[in-house]
Amino acid sequence: MSRGFFVTFEGLDGSGKSTQLRKLAQWLEAQGKHVTITRQPGGTRIGDRIRALLLDSGTENVAPRTELGLMFSDRAQGIAEIIEPALERGDVVLCDRYTDSTEAYQGGGRQLGSEIVLQLHADLCQNLWPDLTILLLPDFERSLERARNRNARNARTGQDENRFESEDERFYRRVYDTYRAIAAREPGRVVMIEGDEGIEEVHRRVVDAVRARLGI
Ligand code: TYD
Repeated sequence: MSRGFFVTFEGLDGSGKSTQLRKLAQWLEAQGKHVTITRQPGGTRIGDRIRALLLDSGTENVAPRTELGLMFSDRAQGIAEIIEPALERGDVVLCDRYTDSTEAYQGGGRQLGSEIVLQLHADLCQNLWPDLTILLLPDFERSLERARNRNARNARTGQDENRFESEDERFYRRVYDTYRAIAAREPGRVVMIEGDEGIEEVHRRVVDAVRARLGI
């Protein structure tokens, strides 16, 4: 059995990546592929607990390095429990956020820098990089707006996962700029889809990127 194919989705909160991930999963299944879907933080029992801790806006006073360590604890578990076994089975793995999020949010947003993130990735994730990363970067102001709308909606429905979403605009600007720097550094792995072309057009571009690499 040949090894599977690992795809991650990245972008700011509100970039529409979860929608695109679901649409790609449906498309791949229609091509007869076995698909494993997961997300970070979360996706495993330990990871879901780490996620609850990290994203709850009631969690106060988290030192940036604590946050960084928890993100990598979650990731190490996700790799061991879900991603690596699925790749060994030959599945296509779709993961909503991965180490690029850590580089963008903790490295850029929290200003810890890229070096520590890439070093931890090498040590704790055995340097497992995706075969393809879809980076959705719609216009900065629109992404921010969408994230805020969702934040307000979640507050009304009582869903409390907005500790990151309450960060200020300068934080998101640093996240955004770090994502762009990652795309510029790794053009072979990262396909950046800019602008706001609508769900179907973005889906078509995601499918093209996957097709080109999978040869289907
Ligand atoms: P999530 O529900 O995945 O957000 P979205 O649906 O907007 O993608 O929430 C994950 C949050 O955690 C998001 O604000 C980004 C943040 N995050 C980090 O700061 N570092 C990381 O390594 C990861 C994986 C996520």
